[in-house]
Amino acid sequence: MRGKSRSLRGRVATLPGDAQRTARFLREHRRFCPRADDVFVATYPRSGTTWLQYACFLMLHPDRMQDEEPPFAHISDVAPWYERSFSVGLAQARDFERLPSPRVFKTHLPRQWLPPTVRCVYAVRAAEDVVLSYWHLYRSHLGYRDDLDTFFEDFVSGRLQYGTWKKHVAGWAQAAAFDRQVHWIRYETLRARPFDELRRLATFLDVNLDEVTLERVVRNTAFDTMKLHRTRFDHATERDRTAQGTDTFIRKGQVGEGHAALSPSQRERLASQSVPLFSAVELDLPLFLR
Ligand code: A3P
Repeated sequence: MRGKSRSLRGRVATLPGDAQRTARFLREHRRFCPRADDVFVATYPRSGTTWLQYACFLMLHPDRMQDEEPPFAHISDVAPWYERSFSVGLAQARDFERLPSPRVFKTHLPRQWLPPTVRCVYAVRAAEDVVLSYWHLYRSHLGYRDDLDTFFEDFVSGRLQYGTWKKHVAGWAQAAAFDRQVHWIRYETLRARPFDELRRLATFLDVNLDEVTLERVVRNTAFDTMKLHRTRFDHATERDRTAQGTDTFIRKGQVGEGHAALSPSQRERLASQSVPLFSAVELDLPLFLR
């Protein structure tokens, strides 16, 4: 056994705490009343969830936008993390009734766990960058102590909170290919052309924003601005609002950093997992035609 991380391996609701969290989640999930205009920002962790959560919230509630600082003490106050709020007991389904429409939720669940009627924004990020970013988060937030090489094996085998990246993305890719309620965004494109991507997102969300407002959304959700207010986004500070927060939640926001951190053989293993999925989605072909 090497540190706490070993005990996190392969655990699927086997400890009393896990069972309790699962039971709480299932109870509240059954009680949850979806609305037709709900928006779920869904991702495999570390793929730009928080960025899109904030952008969706501002686009759907532009009257709340203020340029000096985010209009909330913590983003979860206005756009909660759906499954975690229930599982750790931060909220019950009835608490979400109080959120004004259109509501925004963050989730890492597969599509089939979400109500079929809701709108979903799915962000995907290059696996190389996801694995590196997730390793940092596991170390800073989840007590993981092992090195990146060990984490890489956990990542490709799915011994992590949300299973394998490949399966997660494949499931959502299939949903996006058939379901107009799923909007697909690539982290790298959002990074390169935030204005264009947010305009495309506005169309999906069915909001009519003028260029000036859209520019304000881009500025308020820019990496440096979010980094400046990082304690309002870090989930380490969600429960303890007086905590310092970490520097790893809103960390670097780079494209291609993972490439340098991984070995050529690791990169090859990831590439063999990701290429067919992306080409199928980008060409808008149903997966069974590949
Ligand atoms: P890095 O660890 O590579 O810096 P999530 O919100 O899904 O957990 O994703 C977190 C990743 O998105 C982190 O990546 C974080 O720095 C990056 N990120 C957060 N806000 C961002 C923004 N406004 N622009 C670009 N990247 C952002």
